[in-house]
Amino acid sequence: MGKTGIGIIGAGFAAHFHARMYHELAALGAEVVAIASRTESKAQELAHRHGIPRVMTDYRDLLRQPDVDIVDLCVPNYLHHEVAMAAAQAGKHVICEKPLTGYFGAGEEDAGHTPRSHMLEVALKSADEMVATAAQRGVKLMYAENWVYAPAIQKVRALVAASGGTILDLRGEESHHGSASSYARHWRYTGGGALIRLGSHPIGAMLHLKRTEGMRRRGRPIGVSAVTAVTGELTQADALRDNPPQWLVHDWVDVENWATVILSFDDGSRGVVMASDNCLGGIKDTLDVFMSNARIHCNFSRNNLLEAYAPDAQVFADEYIVEKLETKAGWSFPSVDEEWAQGYRLELEDFVRAVQEDRAPLSDGLLGREVVSVIYHAYLSAEQGRTVTISS
Ligand SMILES: NC(=O)c1ccc[n+]([C@@H]2O[C@H](COP(=O)([O-])OP(=O)(O)OC[C@H]3O[C@@H](n4cnc5c(N)ncnc54)[C@H](OP(=O)(O)O)[C@@H]3O)[C@@H](O)[C@H]2O)c1
Repeated sequence: MGKTGIGIIGAGFAAHFHARMYHELAALGAEVVAIASRTESKAQELAHRHGIPRVMTDYRDLLRQPDVDIVDLCVPNYLHHEVAMAAAQAGKHVICEKPLTGYFGAGEEDAGHTPRSHMLEVALKSADEMVATAAQRGVKLMYAENWVYAPAIQKVRALVAASGGTILDLRGEESHHGSASSYARHWRYTGGGALIRLGSHPIGAMLHLKRTEGMRRRGRPIGVSAVTAVTGELTQADALRDNPPQWLVHDWVDVENWATVILSFDDGSRGVVMASDNCLGGIKDTLDVFMSNARIHCNFSRNNLLEAYAPDAQVFADEYIVEKLETKAGWSFPSVDEEWAQGYRLELEDFVRAVQEDRAPLSDGLLGREVVSVIYHAYLSAEQGRTVTISS
């Protein structure tokens, strides 16, 4: 099998775990040949750690490298559209971290105060351009939604198919104590708050499951026809005025840190999505599936495969426990193989194989586009205090 050259753009949190995963795909011929990131020292550090031969500070230089087949976007959300479009124009396949795109304004500090109807229009146009340009240039736009690849979600898919039943009610949540990325504080970089950063995961998984069910049962996907949403800034609530939180991120600028969305699917079934930056005790990733003939509960960031106790936070020293855990003292549930459980390894493997085998990945640009549509219709719903319909 020939080599598949990867170019990573960005050198932060996501770039680090992607770079780790590509080592494990070496047997497939995947090799990270270049990294481009804005701050050279951070790119150098990542390159040194993972043996990446070329480092650049301008992503356009990376797009000119002839041995880069796939460009892996690990940059803040506001750059996804620009970089993905440039990569596709350069004839490179694109892996785009979630969310596919969004509304970011023109860099103004109060982008988050823009009317939601305008945001929706701009975000959909951006997503449509990305999908259309990739198709026109004959390259793959691969949407890095790891929940789709999480083994627990894939087992749900298999159980649903085996049962022949109907998914009536989905309830999914991703919550934790807040993002470490400074970009996440501002709408102009992230395109929203907890809903787009965290809620995009359960929304992506629900759309994937209903799309798959629809193809199996009706020969066409089941999509979302309406959303009803409420968002909130809980760390600015009166309840905290005399009692500022110690462990929760609370320096949000113009983004929500709590959201609930009800999805109405076009077959009459429902989904409820929760996303919050106000959750202590490690990241929470759950999905409940209530079916006509079965019921399934997934809890894939916290399970009791391993339970550990330490009387003091120093006992386990630097050993990793689980994402976003505040302390190692007391009882904890160490993740045995987080990158497998979260689907990161299987996701990047599918993307490399999709390029090598010239087939569609399981999670593609169209799924990313649908997630953007649901999220910005939800922002419109929350602004207007009413259910908003989504035209197919
Ligand atoms: N699937 C998941 O579970 C998951 C988890 C985390 C993040 N993500 C996604 O991954 C993406 C990156 O998030 P992150 O947490 O890794 O953010 P991060 O830690 O802040 O890293 C972002 C990186 O992008 C670089 N960058 C910024 N502007 C750039 C430019 N113009 N050209 C090249 N590089 C540039 C930054 O450089 P500087 O250091 O100079 O700022 C930084 O190295 C986001 O889309 C996020 O949603 C996904």
